[in-house]
Amino acid sequence: MSIDIMDDVFDKALSSPGLVQDPSVLRSDYIPDRLPFREEQIRTVAEILAPILKNSKPSNLLLYGKTGTGKTAVTHRVLERLQKAATKTPKQMTFAYCNSRVAGTEYRVLSQLANAIGVEIPFTGLALSEVFARIIKHINQSQTNVIFTLDEIDFLVKHSGDDLLYEFTRSNSEIFPASLSLVGISNDLQFKDLLDPRVLSSLSEEEIVFTPYTADQLRTILNERALLAFPPGQVSQAAVNLCAALAASEHGDARRAVDLLRVAAEIAERKSAASLEEEHIRLALQHIEQDRIGEAVHSLPLHAKLLLTTIMLNQDSQSTGEIYESYRKLTETIRTESLTQRRVSALLAELDMLGLITTSIVSKGRYGRTKSIYTQVPKTRLRDLLTADPILKDLKLPY
Ligand SMILES: Nc1ncnc2c1ncn2[C@@H]1O[C@H](COP(=O)(O)OP(=O)(O)OP(=O)(O)O)[C@@H](O)[C@H]1O
Ligand SMILES: [Mg+2]
Repeated sequence: MSIDIMDDVFDKALSSPGLVQDPSVLRSDYIPDRLPFREEQIRTVAEILAPILKNSKPSNLLLYGKTGTGKTAVTHRVLERLQKAATKTPKQMTFAYCNSRVAGTEYRVLSQLANAIGVEIPFTGLALSEVFARIIKHINQSQTNVIFTLDEIDFLVKHSGDDLLYEFTRSNSEIFPASLSLVGISNDLQFKDLLDPRVLSSLSEEEIVFTPYTADQLRTILNERALLAFPPGQVSQAAVNLCAALAASEHGDARRAVDLLRVAAEIAERKSAASLEEEHIRLALQHIEQDRIGEAVHSLPLHAKLLLTTIMLNQDSQSTGEIYESYRKLTETIRTESLTQRRVSALLAELDMLGLITTSIVSKGRYGRTKSIYTQVPKTRLRDLLTADPILKDLKLPY
């Protein structure tokens, strides 16, 4: 790009007022003051945690519901208010929050809790039980009531099992008269199956379910957000309606709705549009969809990539057996051991869940039924994504 062109771009950015007044409002970690359609959940979480203000232990609480249904937003809002209320009493209490996915390991989850209550522990080196013992000792000595929120708790359980949660549940009997309550948040509805029954019954003393938003509800949420982010009249109602309908088409996911609005606003700004219209929402959808597929393929394990390659290489849809045969040949070509048919079936189910392949059941009359599998991702794009993997880059792919 020549210097003049860049000056042009930057001058334009400086001189035009821009469509978005306050971009931070469109970020997905922004939590608005009002959370419509979540009044009931807010009240219930508040009621369950309120006993801490009277020096008694709140029940452990499990919040679950699909992604983008306001679990994190509701929890943050309630804890923020609780913190405020806590300043009105001389009682000791601490509210700690940790996102397990961001923290990554059990050790880091525990160190965040330790830091929040003022216990110093080294970055690594201690056994988990030792860190836990120090936390309990400190809580007892300082006679503090603690609420620990563990967001995306399913990540922790899937990667490290439920040992840490087991320690938490056992700690109840060791902490007195202070207390440690746990608020767990998960968007994986099946994660409860992974828990030891004792852990589950303790963690879910109380449970709150967050249901997906309807398209109408998303429209209200988006309209409120648009009022905060854009100058009046800069977003057409048709654009908001489309955005809400698209975000509700899989499940009513407010994050997806706000993301669409943000990306659409960026596109409209780049085009120097006077207002945000339906066409920008459509372009944003394409953009987000492409990003999603790229990310999904990029983070697949090698054998899932090999399966996707096999599926891509065949014109027509194939049965699971045919795919397994071609996959085995492909593993021989790259001198890798193949996985068992059972593992392959599990990987196919995962690819299906990620929307990278489509599976349908075909009836073969008296020969029974068989699965038919194909991909709808454009093959040239898939080739580019797959050959970005160093192990697959030398495969001679026809597309
Ligand atoms: N009722 C609501 N009103 C306004 N904005 C909302 C509402 N519910 C969710 N949002 C917004 O949608 C986005 C996603 O919400 P949040 O992070 O709470 O979802 P989540 O249920 O925690 O999802 P995940 O399981 O993926 O973590 C945030 O930007 C949040 O501010
Ligand atoms: Mg969340």
